[in-house]
Amino acid sequence: MKTNILVIGGTGKTGRRVVEQLQNRGIEPRVGSRNALPSFDWDNKDTWIEALNGIEKMYVTYYPDLAVPGAKEAIESLTYLAKELGVKKMVLLSGKGETEAEACEKIVMDSGLEYTIVRASWFNQNWSESFFLDPILSGEVALPLSDVLIPFVDANDIAEVAATVLLDDSYNGQIVEITGPELINFKDAVEMIEKASNRNLNFYDITLQQYTEGMKQLQIPSDVVWLIEYLFSHVLTNPNNQLVVNDIERVLGRKAKPFSIYAKETASTGVWNVEMTQTK
Ligand SMILES: NC(=O)c1ccc[n+]([C@@H]2O[C@H](COP(=O)([O-])OP(=O)(O)OC[C@H]3O[C@@H](n4cnc5c(N)ncnc54)[C@H](OP(=O)(O)O)[C@@H]3O)[C@@H](O)[C@H]2O)c1
Repeated sequence: MKTNILVIGGTGKTGRRVVEQLQNRGIEPRVGSRNALPSFDWDNKDTWIEALNGIEKMYVTYYPDLAVPGAKEAIESLTYLAKELGVKKMVLLSGKGETEAEACEKIVMDSGLEYTIVRASWFNQNWSESFFLDPILSGEVALPLSDVLIPFVDANDIAEVAATVLLDDSYNGQIVEITGPELINFKDAVEMIEKASNRNLNFYDITLQQYTEGMKQLQIPSDVVWLIEYLFSHVLTNPNNQLVVNDIERVLGRKAKPFSIYAKETASTGVWNVEMTQTK
């Protein structure tokens, strides 16, 4: 089927949901993934031309994060190629309070392409589809900076905003800042997951140094440890991140999803149910 929309990271936390949002509106986008046909691999520029060929609009999520070394250069090359190949508009997923991500935003904003920047706070789905899932499954959650307030945002809300601004050109040239509807800390989040999943979860407040040492002992790769430490020490503590913004309401005409509802809905999928997860 002919399509003129590409979703890079179309199998990931937000991209998968953007694909669903577009499909619900009768559009079958091209999925940007190493396993798609044509494939798209950030580490192999030879794949980029075919993936972008014939595309007019694209949603771009960089993996693993716009803060990592090499991200800026990759966004620069992709944006340049997109322009060369006649892509008209790019919607970039960015992170609130990340200096490196803002450098990537600037590349897109200065590129001459139409654009919308979707600048999101930390995702709810980090607890169910990313680095906080294993501690939840173990029942022992040890995290630093447990008193920092975070406006966790739902990946479904991000995707609905991304699909809307992708299709609606009245958002061209805008930075859309998306957060959840309330400020909560890690302990609040764990308590809501505990209640929703009907499990006993122990929470321990530890230092950032203890946290990174723990990751190293678990033999988590050093670049992942670096990224997580960076996100805690630079992004989480940035005062600009400790604010609720109402752009979800502005774009979608409804309120953002509260964490408690995310926890309830996610618990019902069984992802936090230890027996179900172990038998998978
Ligand atoms: N998590 C948060 O709290 C948060 C907050 C704000 C902003 N962000 C931003 O969100 C972005 C990530 O978006 P996301 O969470 O939606 O995605 P994600 O779930 O982290 O990413 C997974 C996607 O990346 C793809 N991928 C992995 N390695 C790849 C490679 N070498 N080449 C091509 N594709 C590759 C995967 O596709 P395949 O495996 O199928 O190839 C999959 O589609 C990051 O840039 C981060 O800065 C995250």
